[in-house]
Amino acid sequence: MSNKRKLVPMELVLFLVVFFTTFRGSFGASKQTKSKASYGIGSSVVFPVTGNVYPNGYYHVTLYIGHPPKPYFLDIDTGSDLTWLQCDAPCTKCTPAPHALYKPNKNLVRCEDPLCASLHWPANKPCKTPDDQCDYEIVYADHGSSMGVLIRDSFPLRLINGSVAGPRLIFGCGYNQEVPDSFDPPHTDGVLGLTGGQLSIVSQLHEQGITRNILGHCLSGKGEGFLFFGNDLVPSSRVVWVPMLLNSLEKRYVLGPTELLYGNRATGVKGLLVVFDSGSTYSYFSSDAYKATLAIVKKDLNGKQLKDAVEDQNLPVCWKGAKPFKSIQDVKNYFKPLVLRFTKAKNVQLQLPPAAYLIITKDGNVCLGILNGSEVGLGNDNILGDISLQDKMVIYDNEKQQIGWVAANCDRLPNTDRDYIGGSSQPFASNMDILEEHLEEEL
Ligand SMILES: *[C@@H]1O[C@H](CO)[C@@H](O)[C@H](O)[C@H]1NC(C)=O
Ligand SMILES: *[C@@H]1O[C@H](CO)[C@@H](O)[C@H](O)[C@H]1NC(C)=O
Repeated sequence: MSNKRKLVPMELVLFLVVFFTTFRGSFGASKQTKSKASYGIGSSVVFPVTGNVYPNGYYHVTLYIGHPPKPYFLDIDTGSDLTWLQCDAPCTKCTPAPHALYKPNKNLVRCEDPLCASLHWPANKPCKTPDDQCDYEIVYADHGSSMGVLIRDSFPLRLINGSVAGPRLIFGCGYNQEVPDSFDPPHTDGVLGLTGGQLSIVSQLHEQGITRNILGHCLSGKGEGFLFFGNDLVPSSRVVWVPMLLNSLEKRYVLGPTELLYGNRATGVKGLLVVFDSGSTYSYFSSDAYKATLAIVKKDLNGKQLKDAVEDQNLPVCWKGAKPFKSIQDVKNYFKPLVLRFTKAKNVQLQLPPAAYLIITKDGNVCLGILNGSEVGLGNDNILGDISLQDKMVIYDNEKQQIGWVAANCDRLPNTDRDYIGGSSQPFASNMDILEEHLEEEL
């Protein structure tokens, strides 16, 4: 695999490739409480986000889990549905993490739990006995993986309607993590899986009547942002919506087909399906689309003052100017927006301005943040990673099966009191103070 070439040390490509599960004979201790789903309106939860595309390569949120609740940093991944934490079960192989490992406490999910069954795809192995524990293994496209067992614990959440909820949710206790050789592991405690599958945290919150099955993120190019679950922060106008392509085998957010333009010029690339994947740092095009993109960008640079920068260690295709670049502002006159036109959705466009596909490296070069997916084994997948999802609010509506986006300032947390909830007496606080105050009383 060419990702052994260490082209992109910090790159992450988190999306699910294979699930398989095996069953061992030990017995889960948790009793199964089937929630009474209430499909009422539900509230919303907002999480501040921290991270960047370069140099860190990922965005994370802090979730409080357990009793008493402890904080964990989770990488936001709209490319997989399983949430897992590095776990002292005990841990066979864990990567350096910002917090102490999560300690499971007799809270195993039983094999016959419907959410365990949803994990068994595609193998769908029957349980040997209903009391078996529910083992999982998730392998990501970059060949990183987590192996562990499903458990259930409480996730105290402060809802924007002022209430505190303490739902018990199912997630993975990961006791054996592999990180691809060439990558530095992200400095997180686990992954927050956000695809539309039953197992995803948002689907579970929806099942318990706490939020709608809708989520959104707003990732700032300056390194902050926010993530929300629920419908309250979705703007009522200006959002452009495109139906998700439904593919039962793939629980990913796939849109298309699209035609690719550079500025207003056709690149000749048509029929491109794209995956919205916040678990991937950069974007990836399949071989033909990548080739066409590279050709048209290079052709357009002809006669301009940019020279190939072959010595840049960060990314494979870079250019340098007369003096080092400090920000995207310095290069925006050299590049045009890439445009994805959704030909079966009223020609709606997703604009990727230079900041959505270029990186200014520490050496002051400008590098292409769209990579050759065929080279890293992604086959025909085209992935829009963090770089291309930044500086927009991107909304995944799993109820209406559509994805929307709208230009947004992601630097400041939404003031849910002023911006979204007329007359609410509870101002939205980004910190956990209020939540922590409530926890002892309510949980
Ligand atoms: C807030 O929303 C939750 C979830 O729908 C609900 O259970 C709770 O009663 C609501 N609280 C208020 C104050 O409306
Ligand atoms: C992309 O990768 C494939 C597979 O390694 C390779 O055959 C192709 O030449 C690459 N495309 C470009 C433009 O580098």
